[in-house]
Amino acid sequence: MPDVIAYGGDWNPEQWPEETWRQDVALMREAGVNQVSLGIFSWSLLEPAKGVFDFGWLDRAMDLLAANGIRAGLATPTASPPPWFAASYPEALPVDADGRRLHHGSRQGFCPSSPIYRDRALRIAERVATRYAGHPALALWHVHNEYGCHNARCYCDTSAGAFRAWLRARYSSLDELNDAWGTAFWSQRYGEWTQILPPRATPSFTNPGQQLDFRRFSSDALVELYTAERDLLRSVTPDVPVTTNLMAGAHWDMDCWAFAAEVDVVSTDHYLIGARAEPHIDLAFAADYARSLNGGRPWLLMEHSTSAVNWQPRNLAKAPGELRRNSLQHLARGADAIMFFQWRASRAGAEKWHSAMLPHAGPDTKIFREVKALGAELAGLDGVPGSRVTAEVAILLDHASVWAQDHPAQPSSELDPVEEAKRWHAALWRAGITCDLAHPEGDLSGYRLVLVPMLYLVSDAGAAGLADFTRAGGVTLVGPYSGIVDEHDRVRLGGYPGAWRELLGVSVEEFFPLEGPIALESGGTGTVWSELAHVTGAKVLDAYATGEPAWTRHEQGGGAAHYLTTRLDDAALARVLAAVCAEAGVRPAATAPPGVEVVRRAHPDGRAFLFAINHTGADAEMTTPDGARVAVPAGDVLILPELPGGAGGGGTH
Ligand code: GAL
Ligand code: ZN
Repeated sequence: MPDVIAYGGDWNPEQWPEETWRQDVALMREAGVNQVSLGIFSWSLLEPAKGVFDFGWLDRAMDLLAANGIRAGLATPTASPPPWFAASYPEALPVDADGRRLHHGSRQGFCPSSPIYRDRALRIAERVATRYAGHPALALWHVHNEYGCHNARCYCDTSAGAFRAWLRARYSSLDELNDAWGTAFWSQRYGEWTQILPPRATPSFTNPGQQLDFRRFSSDALVELYTAERDLLRSVTPDVPVTTNLMAGAHWDMDCWAFAAEVDVVSTDHYLIGARAEPHIDLAFAADYARSLNGGRPWLLMEHSTSAVNWQPRNLAKAPGELRRNSLQHLARGADAIMFFQWRASRAGAEKWHSAMLPHAGPDTKIFREVKALGAELAGLDGVPGSRVTAEVAILLDHASVWAQDHPAQPSSELDPVEEAKRWHAALWRAGITCDLAHPEGDLSGYRLVLVPMLYLVSDAGAAGLADFTRAGGVTLVGPYSGIVDEHDRVRLGGYPGAWRELLGVSVEEFFPLEGPIALESGGTGTVWSELAHVTGAKVLDAYATGEPAWTRHEQGGGAAHYLTTRLDDAALARVLAAVCAEAGVRPAATAPPGVEVVRRAHPDGRAFLFAINHTGADAEMTTPDGARVAVPAGDVLILPELPGGAGGGGTH
């Protein structure tokens, strides 16, 4: 990646007459755009009929970019097969759990396991790759678009066959599969592989092991489509990095950790959800997740919006200054690319009401002025690209656990593992502490504190990883309904949480979901959930009125493992998190008032920047680690270079 922040958006010149393109690039230059994502949904124009190709327009668009010094993140157009594809191969269209075959007319209209889709996708990808290999504008391959956004799970016969093949590779025998899925229950024992189906609509609850493996299989099928294209692209252009835009933190059907292992650089898309009270905290979660997926290295924000989107019930426009604040917040949390969907607002099509860098009203607009100002600001941030955010705290998060807990037959439908992880992350955000997300089987050795808000399913390796981290001196806080089942969604017996009973020094005999809040001795409350726990070595730090444990602490090796048997209210959770942060020696990057976010990006050689973002409508002041008091005006963002040899100080942008 070059030593500048990539800035731009999806450019869809195919939606416009060519006269418009020259105005596009002139305005791009005016706005400081140095990169665009190109050709994402252009399959029906590049291959208007099966085996008939037309690259003329894309040649001219690429040449125009090159002539203007704008880099292309060139897409393979495989996210939207053309109408001829559906007409020729109706069997390759996706089928839902009720057996409904979906029709052409939108995008991602294909079955991820269809060999015909794969073949046609690789053919068009190869055409694009060979045609633009060596083109001066080509900087990055943008494979497909948001894999699985609309077709994450397909229940057709082809998918059924692929699912069986996947299962045969995972289980050495049908006996092993029957055991893993617990098929002695409800007379589900399989006598032949051919009897196994995807979890299609059934009279009552489907088998939990079957649904979990189907989620794993479905995610793997998409990862495989990606790696097939990536391998082809690499064989043609070994030096051009390859990525695909994830939806980290927003869409949980695709295992982001699995995709992250296969891309050259993690890229992701993020959109504010207007219904959230503080959408910028959700933004921080998504950005932290993207950075964690990329191993702490700078990542690419491939899409966000300049203002409103078009797919929420009420699509809120951004207030003046919000665009800049959102973009710089991603940057603060480690992004080295600030890209938007899209460059020019569409005139027609289902996204014509989506904001863009260049609105329908043209360049003399609030949005375009803000886009230009941001481009100029990013271009002036010498030294920021390549610097990294380092976190001392990690929250464990795994898709398999989310999928398993998604089975509807749970003790309480009110426990939401993703919302719980976001709530703990938000509590840390309010305390000014930056955290990573980590896979339970990942390397935890760099952290001081590991949090497990709700990890219902954990593998033996994941369970051991947390115990090893703690016994090596780390501090751990485990939330309720964690460590309950093994990788096949089978209960770990002998007292909950079977994975961590010894680590925590606690054994739980029964769950008691709550109808209302329940008082704790500390004055806080438990909500939604409680457990009847016995300490088997841990000390009780907080209890229910009955005296039974609500919060426990167990010293282990050099470290300590804390456990919560209830879902604490926000204030009580903040107090517990403050206690474990203090115990682990974790401190915020600066002292700042509520609503002022401070994050540090640093280079290995010590050059560093403190980003301060004031999300409130009031002027504020923060204190840097070296004691300097810095004013952070309402709604503003400061990027403060640290002086060599000391923290804080320096000029502002
Ligand atoms: C993304 C997608 C874009 C566009 C955008 C609208 O999910 O990748 O193509 O649809 O949403 O917000
Ligand atoms: Zn299918």
